[in-house]
Amino acid sequence: MTKLTAAITGVSGYVPDYILTNKELETMVDTNDEWITSRTGIKERHILKGENLGTSYMAVKAVNDLLKKTNTKAEEIDLLICATTTPDMVFPATANLITDEIGAKNAFGYDIQAACSGFIFALATGAQFIETGKYKKVVIVGGDKMSSIIDYTDRATCIIFGDGAGAVMLEPNTEGYGVLDSILKADGSGAAFLHQKAGGSRKPATEETVRNREHYVYQEGTTVFKFAVKGMADVSAEIMERNNLTADDVAWLVPHQANKRIIDATAQRMNVGPEKVMLNIQKYGNTTSGTIPLCLWDYENQLHKGDNLIISAFGGGFTWGALYVKWAYDPK
Ligand code: UT7
Repeated sequence: MTKLTAAITGVSGYVPDYILTNKELETMVDTNDEWITSRTGIKERHILKGENLGTSYMAVKAVNDLLKKTNTKAEEIDLLICATTTPDMVFPATANLITDEIGAKNAFGYDIQAACSGFIFALATGAQFIETGKYKKVVIVGGDKMSSIIDYTDRATCIIFGDGAGAVMLEPNTEGYGVLDSILKADGSGAAFLHQKAGGSRKPATEETVRNREHYVYQEGTTVFKFAVKGMADVSAEIMERNNLTADDVAWLVPHQANKRIIDATAQRMNVGPEKVMLNIQKYGNTTSGTIPLCLWDYENQLHKGDNLIISAFGGGFTWGALYVKWAYDPK
């Protein structure tokens, strides 16, 4: 029997209009453009403004554009997986809100929450449904409205995050293109260093949790940084070795955009030059589940059929991992 792989056959993205610059942040907290740029590589990020707009608003924009680009009717989608850490509501799943909004009447959907690794966890999961031959069109969308859980009085976190969403279409392929390998890892002892204290079942919202600012991202940045550098670099090197790929064989590193210094360390460990590294952290910041599809979206016109991509991420949980993807199409 011919082996089926899950090829990425299209990509799209959406970022909201409002741009929060380092200059504007200087008026909000004790920080400066030089510090933010040199420590993170970030210049600006997009913020979703407006009443009652959640992650699904951005995801719907990205998925609708994806359907247009891939000539797909919403009814043809079999499954939509949404990676997000900022769901519209605790339940139902944001994936359900998206499928309803776009009119994907024949699809089922669910969310995956793996913080900044959410998109790669979802992509690896969605690929399995294609590889078994069960489904023909699977949409993976990753997005976060990080501004909804960021404390804009905390200079250590508010400078990093932004809002945005991106989506890819997965379809069966018999010529060896698509998701070829994945290594996914998790270590729950990392929860101590990056989490949201209240709002879950352990500590539901009360006046006190709100007063204590416990509904925002809590991060011990330096510790997370150390784990992220090692985790992302190790797993990226491991997936190359396992697939007998040298740096010359790799066309692109597609790294989660959390900090340019983490990205540089990963590229160095893989021996891959900066010209092969997708980078858009300067304009979007860290959009959590959105970073990787937003990279693919920005660089789509530079990708060619047969390009070997190493996609890697590290995030809260801790969660981390890498995927080996052979790109399935030339620029259109
Ligand atoms: O994507 C999910 C996973 N998350 C990550 O990968 C994030 C990993 N962590 C990081 O990227 C970095 O740790 C940060 C960007 C968050 C912080 O950079 P850092 O180089 O680790 O700085 P630091 O926390 O060690 O702080 C150094 C100094 C401190 O001052 P003192 O104690 O040395 O006087 C901070 O108070 O920089 C100060 N600082 C700032 N100064 C100006 C912290 N934030 C700011 C700021 N502007 N925004």
